[in-house]
Amino acid sequence: MSAYLRMGELGQCLDIFQFGPDIMATVWVLFIFLNFDLLLKTGQCAETSGQVLSITPNSQEQVEILKNVSIHYQTVLWQPVSSDYIKEQTQVHLYVPANSSQTVNDLLHRHSITYEVMLSNADEIIEMQMRNDSTDPRSGATFYQRYHTLEDIYDWINRTAKDYPNTVKVILVGSSHEKRPLYALKLSLNNRPNKKAMWIDCGIHAREWISPAFCLFFVHYSLLFYNQNQAMTQILDNMDVYVLPVMNPDGYKYTWTNDRMWRKNRFPKKGTPCIGVDLNRNFDANWCTRGASDYPCSEIYCGAFPESEPESQAVANFLRSHKDSIQIYLSIHSYSQMLLMPYSCTMDEAENHSELYEMVKQAAENIRRYYRNIYTYGPGAKTIYLAPGGSDDWAHMLGIKYSFTFELQDRGRYGFLLPPSHIQGACNEALTAVKTIALKVMEKSQASTSSRQTV
Ligand code: ARG
Ligand code: ZN
Repeated sequence: MSAYLRMGELGQCLDIFQFGPDIMATVWVLFIFLNFDLLLKTGQCAETSGQVLSITPNSQEQVEILKNVSIHYQTVLWQPVSSDYIKEQTQVHLYVPANSSQTVNDLLHRHSITYEVMLSNADEIIEMQMRNDSTDPRSGATFYQRYHTLEDIYDWINRTAKDYPNTVKVILVGSSHEKRPLYALKLSLNNRPNKKAMWIDCGIHAREWISPAFCLFFVHYSLLFYNQNQAMTQILDNMDVYVLPVMNPDGYKYTWTNDRMWRKNRFPKKGTPCIGVDLNRNFDANWCTRGASDYPCSEIYCGAFPESEPESQAVANFLRSHKDSIQIYLSIHSYSQMLLMPYSCTMDEAENHSELYEMVKQAAENIRRYYRNIYTYGPGAKTIYLAPGGSDDWAHMLGIKYSFTFELQDRGRYGFLLPPSHIQGACNEALTAVKTIALKVMEKSQASTSSRQTV
């Protein structure tokens, strides 16, 4: 298992054969040369980069050890989202920063827990993702194929509204805990009366960078392809679209400046060293029941009460006051390639379960047909885990019957660190799902209005 062990074995073996000193020296040089790479990888030398490990515990004892590692060592669980959900025969994705990799690797070895290194150069990838300056000659990609800082996104919002004064409006829906504005864009491509609307929010979870990238791409695509792409034209002729590119600006900012793996908002819980509420556990949908935590240090902390956080309250207020026009609610997350529908807060089926199921199924089929990529689909609770207090469930209970959460690329290869070169592909897939669902919803409402007219 370790290179040290093998060296020991080889040493013993050489002693037995009693080679002369010259041969011994050559053998050692050769050995070291051939195994240098291995020596580095086995963790006998300290890692110089953070790593992401994929570990599948195969006994209850290993489950307990992994829980312990993820809680007591400096690591970040990527999957599952909280150590409570680590179970036998289920893959765990664990980010291990450079300074704790030796300790963690040793510990896993000691308990004979095998693992695969999914990413050995996490730091390099993080650095690559932040290299977003368009003047950087190394980055040939265009604006929508890169990740952007919060400041750049605010600039982009203003610029977009200025460039499209007749069709784009900026709406201030609220502000974050640290008093950053929550801006949504309203796309209104024509002035037909009584239009319905779709809401899309991105970046509830700070580290899911592909999500804000999708919101930017979606706005750009809508403005560029209205009157060019048939599906997009139909959709925008029939509904307005509200897009909130960064629902958790404090968290997003923090992932650029301090901790790339941050998930929650940045609310400091008084009397504890803990920071952050999971905004997707803070809505009033079976709030803080099984699948959320009332422990402020947890990654799935539900907050002090439903809508305790200014970010979730702002979105809830906006949806409440526009619930008669908003027909479709979409929340964009990553990773794991899933198209989720209510409910996540209970095992019960939504009242319109079958029509929602038909929609996610068809969306996944279209993604598969056009992009050869697999998305799983179904109600959140059954497809991933019970997760109460989510925005999608709450919106559905409010009466927005077509409510979904998308988990974009990938399935774990890069996880939250999806390289910029994958942004385009991930966005195209999500766009396909949005189009499929919006067209289906329109079909249904047109069918119901025309049948009402015929009676
Ligand atoms: N990964 C998302 C989360 O943990 C899943 C969201 C699904 N919907 C929900 N209401 N929980 O928040
Ligand atoms: Zn998320």
